[in-house]
Amino acid sequence: MKLSERLLEIADLVPRGSCVSDVGTDHALLPIYLVKKGIARRVIAVESKLGPWTRARENVRKAGMADLIDVRLGDGFEPLKPGEVDVAIIAGLGGETIWSIMEKSPDIVNSLCAIILQPMKNAHRLRKALFENCFEITEERVVFSKSKYYEIMVVKKGDSSFFSEEDVILGPVLKRRRTPEVLGYIEARIRRLLIKLTELEGKNSENAEKARECIIKEMELLKGVLKNDKYSDGD
Ligand SMILES: C[S@@+](CC[C@H](N)C(=O)[O-])C[C@H]1O[C@@H](n2cnc3c(N)ncnc32)[C@H](O)[C@@H]1O
Repeated sequence: MKLSERLLEIADLVPRGSCVSDVGTDHALLPIYLVKKGIARRVIAVESKLGPWTRARENVRKAGMADLIDVRLGDGFEPLKPGEVDVAIIAGLGGETIWSIMEKSPDIVNSLCAIILQPMKNAHRLRKALFENCFEITEERVVFSKSKYYEIMVVKKGDSSFFSEEDVILGPVLKRRRTPEVLGYIEARIRRLLIKLTELEGKNSENAEKARECIIKEMELLKGVLKNDKYSDGD
Protein backbone atom coordinates (compact mmCIF):
# COMPACT_ATOMS: atom_id res chain seq x y z
CA MET A 1 0.00 0.00 0.00
CA LYS A 2 1.22 3.52 -0.82
CA LEU A 3 2.29 5.69 2.11
CA SER A 4 0.55 9.06 2.52
CA GLU A 5 2.63 12.25 2.17
CA ARG A 6 2.18 12.72 5.93
CA LEU A 7 3.78 9.35 6.72
CA LEU A 8 6.47 9.88 4.04
CA GLU A 9 7.46 13.17 5.70
CA ILE A 10 7.64 11.43 9.09
CA ALA A 11 9.82 8.68 7.55
CA ASP A 12 12.11 11.37 6.15
CA LEU A 13 12.83 12.57 9.70
CA VAL A 14 13.92 9.15 11.00
CA PRO A 15 17.72 8.97 11.37
CA ARG A 16 19.21 6.25 9.12
CA GLY A 17 20.20 3.04 10.85
CA SER A 18 18.13 3.66 13.97
CA CYS A 19 16.04 1.23 16.01
CA VAL A 20 12.58 2.71 16.06
CA SER A 21 9.37 2.32 18.00
CA ASP A 22 6.13 3.29 16.26
CA VAL A 23 3.55 3.81 19.01
CA GLY A 24 -0.06 3.62 17.79
CA THR A 25 1.04 1.82 14.65
CA ASP A 26 -2.46 0.76 13.49
CA HIS A 27 -1.72 -0.96 10.13
CA ALA A 28 2.12 -0.99 10.61
CA LEU A 29 2.57 0.65 7.19
CA LEU A 30 5.22 3.04 8.50
CA PRO A 31 7.38 0.33 10.15
CA ILE A 32 7.20 -1.77 6.97
CA TYR A 33 8.29 1.23 4.87
CA LEU A 34 11.12 2.15 7.27
CA VAL A 35 12.59 -1.35 7.15
CA LYS A 36 12.00 -1.85 3.41
CA LYS A 37 13.84 1.38 2.61
CA GLY A 38 16.72 0.54 4.96
CA ILE A 39 15.97 3.57 7.15
CA ALA A 40 15.36 1.57 10.33
CA ARG A 41 17.40 -1.46 11.34
CA ARG A 42 14.62 -2.78 13.51
CA VAL A 43 11.16 -1.56 14.58
CA ILE A 44 9.04 -2.27 17.62
CA ALA A 45 5.49 -1.36 16.63
CA VAL A 46 3.05 -0.86 19.52
CA GLU A 47 -0.70 -0.97 19.25
CA SER A 48 -3.22 -0.85 22.10
CA LYS A 49 -6.24 -2.31 20.28
CA LEU A 50 -6.57 -5.98 19.43
CA GLY A 51 -8.07 -5.49 15.94
CA PRO A 52 -5.35 -3.16 14.58
CA TRP A 53 -2.64 -5.19 16.40
CA THR A 54 -3.81 -8.39 14.63
CA ARG A 55 -3.92 -6.54 11.29
CA ALA A 56 -0.47 -5.02 11.87
CA ARG A 57 1.02 -8.45 12.62
CA GLU A 58 -0.61 -9.88 9.51
CA ASN A 59 0.74 -7.02 7.32
CA VAL A 60 4.24 -7.51 8.76
CA ARG A 61 4.05 -11.28 8.17
CA LYS A 62 2.86 -10.77 4.58
CA ALA A 63 5.73 -8.32 3.98
CA GLY A 64 8.14 -11.05 5.20
CA MET A 65 9.50 -8.77 7.95
CA ALA A 66 8.47 -10.55 11.14
CA ASP A 67 12.13 -10.94 12.17
CA LEU A 68 12.76 -7.17 11.93
CA ILE A 69 9.42 -5.73 13.04
CA ASP A 70 8.13 -6.81 16.43
CA VAL A 71 4.44 -5.90 16.83
CA ARG A 72 3.54 -5.62 20.51
CA LEU A 73 0.11 -5.21 22.08
CA GLY A 74 0.01 -2.60 24.84
CA ASP A 75 -0.42 0.95 26.00
CA GLY A 76 2.07 3.56 24.79
CA PHE A 77 5.67 2.81 25.76
CA GLU A 78 4.67 0.21 28.37
CA PRO A 79 5.64 -2.81 26.22
CA LEU A 80 9.18 -1.40 25.77
CA LYS A 81 12.30 -1.64 27.91
CA PRO A 82 14.81 1.25 28.04
CA GLY A 83 17.56 0.80 25.47
CA GLU A 84 15.52 -1.33 23.03
CA VAL A 85 15.07 1.60 20.62
CA ASP A 86 16.74 4.97 20.13
CA VAL A 87 13.97 6.74 18.19
CA ALA A 88 10.21 6.79 18.73
CA ILE A 89 7.33 7.94 16.57
CA ILE A 90 3.87 8.82 17.88
CA ALA A 91 1.71 9.95 14.96
CA GLY A 92 -1.95 10.36 14.22
CA LEU A 93 -3.09 10.90 17.82
CA GLY A 94 -4.27 14.05 19.61
CA GLY A 95 -1.65 16.30 21.23
CA GLU A 96 -2.92 15.60 24.72
CA THR A 97 -2.93 11.82 24.19
CA ILE A 98 0.63 12.02 22.84
CA TRP A 99 1.74 13.90 25.95
CA SER A 100 -0.03 11.46 28.29
CA ILE A 101 1.80 8.56 26.57
CA MET A 102 5.16 10.35 27.03
CA GLU A 103 4.44 11.39 30.61
CA LYS A 104 3.69 7.81 31.71
CA SER A 105 7.09 6.44 30.62
CA PRO A 106 9.90 8.82 31.60
CA ASP A 107 12.51 6.03 31.63
CA ILE A 108 11.87 5.21 27.98
CA VAL A 109 11.35 8.80 26.84
CA ASN A 110 14.54 10.04 28.51
CA SER A 111 16.54 7.23 26.88
CA LEU A 112 15.58 8.25 23.32
CA CYS A 113 17.75 10.42 21.08
CA ALA A 114 14.77 11.61 19.03
CA ILE A 115 10.99 11.45 19.33
CA ILE A 116 8.97 12.26 16.22
CA LEU A 117 5.50 13.55 17.03
CA GLN A 118 2.61 14.29 14.70
CA PRO A 119 -0.43 15.52 16.61
CA MET A 120 -3.78 15.58 14.78
CA LYS A 121 -5.03 18.37 17.04
CA ASN A 122 -3.96 20.47 20.03
CA ALA A 123 -0.36 20.78 18.84
CA HIS A 124 -0.09 23.95 20.99
CA ARG A 125 -1.01 22.03 24.17
CA LEU A 126 1.55 19.38 23.32
CA ARG A 127 4.26 22.02 22.73
CA LYS A 128 3.44 23.76 26.02
CA ALA A 129 3.70 20.47 27.94
CA LEU A 130 6.98 19.67 26.18
CA PHE A 131 8.54 23.06 27.02
CA GLU A 132 7.33 22.92 30.62
CA ASN A 133 8.97 19.52 30.99
CA CYS A 134 12.36 20.45 29.52
CA PHE A 135 11.94 19.00 26.04
CA GLU A 136 13.60 20.74 23.14
CA ILE A 137 12.00 20.92 19.69
CA THR A 138 14.86 20.39 17.25
CA GLU A 139 12.94 20.26 13.98
CA GLU A 140 9.43 21.01 12.75
CA ARG A 141 7.73 20.47 9.42
CA VAL A 142 4.32 21.10 7.95
CA VAL A 143 2.99 18.83 5.27
CA PHE A 144 -0.06 19.36 3.09
CA SER A 145 -1.64 15.99 2.48
CA LYS A 146 -5.18 15.04 1.44
CA SER A 147 -6.34 18.71 1.58
CA LYS A 148 -5.10 19.18 5.12
CA TYR A 149 -2.02 20.59 6.85
CA TYR A 150 -0.23 18.44 9.42
CA GLU A 151 2.44 19.54 11.89
CA ILE A 152 5.34 17.23 12.63
CA MET A 153 7.98 17.86 15.28
CA VAL A 154 11.17 16.18 16.43
CA VAL A 155 11.87 16.50 20.13
CA LYS A 156 14.43 15.36 22.67
CA LYS A 157 15.04 15.90 26.35
CA GLY A 158 16.99 19.12 26.72
CA ASP A 159 17.60 21.99 29.04
CA SER A 160 14.82 24.04 30.53
CA SER A 161 14.72 27.25 28.54
CA PHE A 162 12.64 30.31 27.84
CA PHE A 163 9.70 29.81 25.48
CA SER A 164 7.45 32.44 23.96
CA GLU A 165 3.79 32.46 23.00
CA GLU A 166 4.84 32.10 19.35
CA ASP A 167 6.80 28.98 20.31
CA VAL A 168 3.64 27.46 21.79
CA ILE A 169 1.13 28.61 19.13
CA LEU A 170 3.29 27.95 16.07
CA GLY A 171 6.54 26.33 17.15
CA PRO A 172 10.13 27.56 17.61
CA VAL A 173 11.36 26.22 14.27
CA LEU A 174 8.26 26.95 12.16
CA LYS A 175 8.10 30.57 13.29
CA ARG A 176 11.46 31.15 11.56
CA ARG A 177 10.77 29.19 8.37
CA ARG A 178 9.88 31.17 5.28
CA THR A 179 9.11 28.20 3.02
CA PRO A 180 5.94 28.28 0.85
CA GLU A 181 4.50 25.37 2.92
CA VAL A 182 4.94 27.18 6.24
CA LEU A 183 3.67 30.54 4.94
CA GLY A 184 0.70 28.77 3.32
CA TYR A 185 0.04 26.97 6.59
CA ILE A 186 0.07 30.20 8.64
CA GLU A 187 -2.23 31.91 6.12
CA ALA A 188 -4.61 28.93 6.17
CA ARG A 189 -4.71 29.07 9.97
CA ILE A 190 -5.52 32.80 9.89
CA ARG A 191 -8.34 32.13 7.40
CA ARG A 192 -9.73 29.36 9.61
CA LEU A 193 -9.63 31.64 12.66
CA LEU A 194 -11.46 34.36 10.71
CA ILE A 195 -14.22 31.86 9.90
CA LYS A 196 -14.47 30.90 13.60
CA LEU A 197 -14.69 34.58 14.49
CA THR A 198 -17.52 35.11 12.00
CA GLU A 199 -19.36 32.12 13.50
CA LEU A 200 -19.21 33.82 16.91
CA GLU A 201 -20.85 37.01 15.62
CA GLY A 202 -23.98 37.88 17.58
CA LYS A 203 -23.05 35.54 20.47
CA ASN A 204 -22.57 37.39 23.75
CA SER A 205 -22.15 34.65 26.38
CA GLU A 206 -19.07 34.59 28.62
CA ASN A 207 -17.79 31.52 26.76
CA ALA A 208 -18.25 33.19 23.39
CA GLU A 209 -16.38 36.25 24.64
CA LYS A 210 -13.49 34.10 25.91
CA ALA A 211 -13.36 32.19 22.63
CA ARG A 212 -13.33 35.48 20.69
CA GLU A 213 -10.42 36.77 22.80
CA CYS A 214 -8.41 33.58 22.24
CA ILE A 215 -9.04 33.64 18.49
CA ILE A 216 -8.06 37.30 18.16
CA LYS A 217 -4.90 36.72 20.22
CA GLU A 218 -3.87 33.73 18.09
CA MET A 219 -4.66 35.59 14.87
CA GLU A 220 -2.60 38.64 15.88
CA LEU A 221 0.26 36.42 16.88
CA LEU A 222 0.24 34.55 13.56
CA LYS A 223 -0.04 37.79 11.59
CA GLY A 224 2.91 39.14 13.61
CA VAL A 225 5.02 36.11 12.70
CA LEU A 226 4.11 36.54 9.00
CA LYS A 227 5.14 40.20 9.04
CA ASN A 228 8.14 40.01 11.31
CA ASP A 229 11.50 39.80 9.59
CA LYS A 230 13.25 38.84 12.83
CA TYR A 231 11.71 35.38 12.30
CA SER A 232 13.62 34.63 9.17
CA ASP A 233 16.38 32.06 9.14
CA GLY A 234 16.83 32.38 5.41
CA ASP A 235 15.49 28.95 4.41
C1 LIG B 1 -5.31 7.18 13.90
S1 LIG B 1 -4.31 5.80 14.15
C2 LIG B 1 -2.74 6.41 13.57
C3 LIG B 1 -1.98 5.32 12.89
C4 LIG B 1 -0.57 5.75 12.42
N1 LIG B 1 0.28 6.04 13.55
C5 LIG B 1 -0.66 6.93 11.50
O1 LIG B 1 -0.20 8.01 11.89
O2 LIG B 1 -1.21 6.79 10.40
C6 LIG B 1 -4.04 5.77 15.91
C7 LIG B 1 -3.71 4.37 16.41
O3 LIG B 1 -3.14 4.49 17.70
C8 LIG B 1 -3.67 3.48 18.55
N2 LIG B 1 -3.52 3.96 19.93
C9 LIG B 1 -4.24 4.92 20.56
N3 LIG B 1 -3.78 5.12 21.82
C10 LIG B 1 -2.74 4.27 21.98
C11 LIG B 1 -1.86 3.98 23.05
N4 LIG B 1 -1.95 4.61 24.22
N5 LIG B 1 -0.91 3.02 22.88
C12 LIG B 1 -0.80 2.37 21.70
N6 LIG B 1 -1.62 2.59 20.64
C13 LIG B 1 -2.56 3.52 20.77
C14 LIG B 1 -5.10 3.35 18.08
O4 LIG B 1 -5.66 2.11 18.44
C15 LIG B 1 -4.94 3.50 16.55
O5 LIG B 1 -4.73 2.27 15.93
